[in-house]
Amino acid sequence: MCGIVGFIGNEEAAPILLDGLSRLEYRGYDSTGLAVYGEAEGLQVVKAKGRLKVLSDLTQGGATVHGALGVGHTRWATHGAPSDANSHPQVSESGRFAVVHNGIIENYAEIKEFLQGKGIKFTSQTDTEVVAQLLEYNYHGGLLETVNKTLQRLRGAYALGIVCANHPDMLIAVRQDSPLIIGHGDGFQMLASDVTAVIKYTREVSYLDDGDLAILTADGVEVLDRYRQRVEKPVSHVDWEISAAEKGGYEHFMAKEIMEQPEAFRKTVFPRLRDGKVILDELTYTPEYLKNMDKLYIIACGSSYHVGMVAKYNLEKLLRKPVEVTLASEFRYCDPIVTEHTLALVISQSGETIDTLAAMREAKRLGARVLAVVNVVGSTIAREADDVLYTWAGPEIAVATTKAYSTQLAVTYLIGLYFADQMGVIDKKMYDEIVGQLLQIPTKMEAILEQSKDIQYFASLYFNHPSVFFIGRNIDYAVGLEGSLKLKEISYIHSEAYAAGELKHGTISLIEPGTLVVALASYAPLFEKLMSNVVEVKSRGASVLGLTVESKGEEMVKIVDHTILIPEVHPMLLPSLDVLPMQLFAYHVALQRGCDIDKPRNLAKSVTVE
Ligand code: G6P
Repeated sequence: MCGIVGFIGNEEAAPILLDGLSRLEYRGYDSTGLAVYGEAEGLQVVKAKGRLKVLSDLTQGGATVHGALGVGHTRWATHGAPSDANSHPQVSESGRFAVVHNGIIENYAEIKEFLQGKGIKFTSQTDTEVVAQLLEYNYHGGLLETVNKTLQRLRGAYALGIVCANHPDMLIAVRQDSPLIIGHGDGFQMLASDVTAVIKYTREVSYLDDGDLAILTADGVEVLDRYRQRVEKPVSHVDWEISAAEKGGYEHFMAKEIMEQPEAFRKTVFPRLRDGKVILDELTYTPEYLKNMDKLYIIACGSSYHVGMVAKYNLEKLLRKPVEVTLASEFRYCDPIVTEHTLALVISQSGETIDTLAAMREAKRLGARVLAVVNVVGSTIAREADDVLYTWAGPEIAVATTKAYSTQLAVTYLIGLYFADQMGVIDKKMYDEIVGQLLQIPTKMEAILEQSKDIQYFASLYFNHPSVFFIGRNIDYAVGLEGSLKLKEISYIHSEAYAAGELKHGTISLIEPGTLVVALASYAPLFEKLMSNVVEVKSRGASVLGLTVESKGEEMVKIVDHTILIPEVHPMLLPSLDVLPMQLFAYHVALQRGCDIDKPRNLAKSVTVE
């Protein structure tokens, strides 16, 4: 939610801020703004409702705003509807302080009332404005004292970028429960919500921790921890290319990221397979620990949660241990049963989702050991977990996840095989077979992606359907959840996923002539059962788009309207293939409907507020 960027150096800041914001728009995109300090011009603030293009046009690509110090923001509205006034930067009454913020100031109402009581006039409905006004109220000439005093009064989550016109040689960055990184350059320094915004300018980054305050000058950065002691932050080198975060000839990031899946799978899995064995160098679980494990708790949100749904089926089958999958936003408040023998498997692409982070902290507090599956290196979840397995999907920009989902799935297969092997509960034949088949997944994925044209055709038949139902059993049901989410989030078509056997308990009443049902029937042991459900919806007039494995194709075509075939693979690995047609279908339906595929309405990729 919300992207922030800041620059201090010896060149014009505005074009750099705009470029940085263009890479952060996935975090929110209902309004944008920047504040730049120029010696002659003072603090100039330009902000507007709408996409970054509006701001870019207003400032002629940054050319009308002069100065080498500034902050920029792209917003996902929480407090106050998207409007020019509610856009950030928020500025204090005198115009001395400009603030950009990602997060929520929970006690803003109380601070606002206090400041209004002192006669201070507010111009927005945002929680952020209280920060700017409180800075001004506390200001008596010393910037650091002012910031410290102000922070003491704030409750909630915030990453802040602060500029003060009286201190043009400093840019202040503050982090509390919202991500913030520092980019270290030669003669300039940057702050940003994530590395994509700075990588064009520098690959040397450091990650702030909760409670940190950083003072950036053109020549360097000083970081103070929550006790205001000076700390040295390790500087990491980011080694992926900027092109990884660009469209590379595709119309949308989502299309590019769908096509990148075979490669992302290879990068995530192949280095961890050696001599026919799954080797997870990152992990140190002993067979004793795993045997004594009382429960595996999978905690995640959104598509990462759907990965957990697949993993439950596979891990329970492999390990014969109870696996509970829970939404992170529920975990925190459900008084979960966790012991020191519980392993919490936390799955997150961004590593910053606030609910997942909070749930992880709660699981740790209750005594669980935490294993995180994360895509973003250096993210908070990755840093706070006991153990981390990275997915090597590379930067994912489209709001709707595809390659991160696929690589998360892949890592759960590896975890299952590794644990089962450590525990001695998998027979060698099965282990060898699955490991062997993992190696074939990327090629099989490529074969499916080559069918994109067929799926585009099916999308052209169904893109006007007002409502779609995804049905499946076992792992097909789990993949249906993801297929349904993909469709609704980018095409705005109402869709639901149902365990096929549950349909008769209510939802079948919604099936009428022409309703589209997507039937996932790749899991051979339940193929017939699923087909019975398909016949039931067909007899009520539904149009059915079916998906199954090649060997079942002949049977399926007799019953459904259209069939998508996927190559045969070990049942445990089916989701990696099943999901691709679902992603392609959602993409092509959204394309036909003229939707803004990479930036769907009301959504943001990184959900850093509760
Ligand atoms: C948002 C994204 C989803 C993602 C979910 C969880 O809703 O749009 O694609 O699955 O957050 O995010 P995480 O980064 O924790 O996987």
